[in-house]
Amino acid sequence: MTNTTEPSDRLDVAEEQSVTLEFTRFCELSAVPEGSKRARKINGTMVLVVHTKGKLYAVQNLCSHQDKFLHTGRVRNCRITCPLHGAQFDLATGKATCLPATKPIPTYEVRVVDDWVEVAV
Ligand code: FES
Repeated sequence: MTNTTEPSDRLDVAEEQSVTLEFTRFCELSAVPEGSKRARKINGTMVLVVHTKGKLYAVQNLCSHQDKFLHTGRVRNCRITCPLHGAQFDLATGKATCLPATKPIPTYEVRVVDDWVEVAV
């Protein structure tokens, strides 16, 4: 079977996908300075924003091992460690990088608009 999708069709799909992201204000940028993290619920989802190495990351604030909060976990090298059993997650991809967790955690798009951190959940 051949692919009949034209390049312009692919562009339309990409534009459509970017339009469907709905960002919600999370907090003022000054409330999450470099080296800190902040958690809150958005649209029923526990979200954790981490500011590290000059970049903002947004992940689900629940460990995939036993659904414990991650916001008190230590952040190092763009990974967060679950405070309960020590699982680690890559903040950019959500991938579990250390046992006992084997499943990833969700990650969310994050941006700054007018000094507000916004997250697409
Ligand atoms: S609850 Fe996070 S590692 Fe067990």
